[in-house]
Amino acid sequence: MSGFRFLDGSRRSVLAASGALAVSAVLRSSFAQEAKLRIGVIGSGKIGGTVGRLWVKNGHPVLFSSRHPEELVGLVKEVGPLARAGTVAEAIAFGGALLLAIPYGAVPEFGRDYAAALKGKIVLDADNASAARDGAELAAEVERDGIGVVSQRYLPGTRLVRAFNTLSYRILAQEANRPPPRLAIPIAGDDPEALKVAARLVSDAGFDPVVVGSLKDARRIQRGNPGYGQAVSAAELKQKLGLGP
Ligand SMILES: NC(=O)c1ccc[n+]([C@@H]2O[C@H](COP(=O)([O-])OP(=O)(O)OC[C@H]3O[C@@H](n4cnc5c(N)ncnc54)[C@H](OP(=O)(O)O)[C@@H]3O)[C@@H](O)[C@H]2O)c1
Repeated sequence: MSGFRFLDGSRRSVLAASGALAVSAVLRSSFAQEAKLRIGVIGSGKIGGTVGRLWVKNGHPVLFSSRHPEELVGLVKEVGPLARAGTVAEAIAFGGALLLAIPYGAVPEFGRDYAAALKGKIVLDADNASAARDGAELAAEVERDGIGVVSQRYLPGTRLVRAFNTLSYRILAQEANRPPPRLAIPIAGDDPEALKVAARLVSDAGFDPVVVGSLKDARRIQRGNPGYGQAVSAAELKQKLGLGP
């Protein structure tokens, strides 16, 4: 009989919680020992600027891109020597992983314009679709097919992971690296290696990754669905979504 059986309920849950914290700390320290990854940020606005900044803080070199890179001089100066500014093409070439944070309406054109450069790239897609901003047709396509499936359609050949789309940049900026339990960031994708990289980058930004499933399952974390807008811990998010521990 295991010693665990002799514990009363409250002690057992304290131990279970401290076990989960220990596992999370071990994962974080193993992520920390991995070499830093060059990251290209496409769209260095509210969400791209915020998450890119968190990665620089963790030691990752980040190329913040814009269609007008000269406008990012202030941002990169403020963020520090691991940050640089460049064009969208430079960010794609630079990044071992990319964060895509542009209006959803711009995704089809972006996918077409940079199709060759994007082939095989790990892309963390934070974009959300709204009819008002991105057009009724695209928003209806997203509602019908699910946003992960639609993003992959417009970004063929990328190793796509939905990530950082569910919470406001303000919450991300405020809550990153908070004392445990850290804030959960749900991710979804079809490519296991890309999911692993995304999980690491979520952790390095100061959050706990929760894998929700495949790109098809990304519907569960798209706007209007139960996994969207949940500023909760990983355990709470898993419970809400009926995911295993
Ligand atoms: N704001 C949030 O809290 C939040 C949270 C989660 C997800 N999201 C999603 O993240 C995406 C970005 O949102 P945001 O709030 O960060 O927007 P934002 O502050 O307006 O930044 C978007 C950036 O995208 C670039 N961009 C604009 N139009 C473009 C086009 N046609 N082609 C290529 N790049 C273009 C712009 O960069 P340049 O003009 O410099 O090229 C701009 O800096 C959206 O899809 C949004 O739904 C936002």
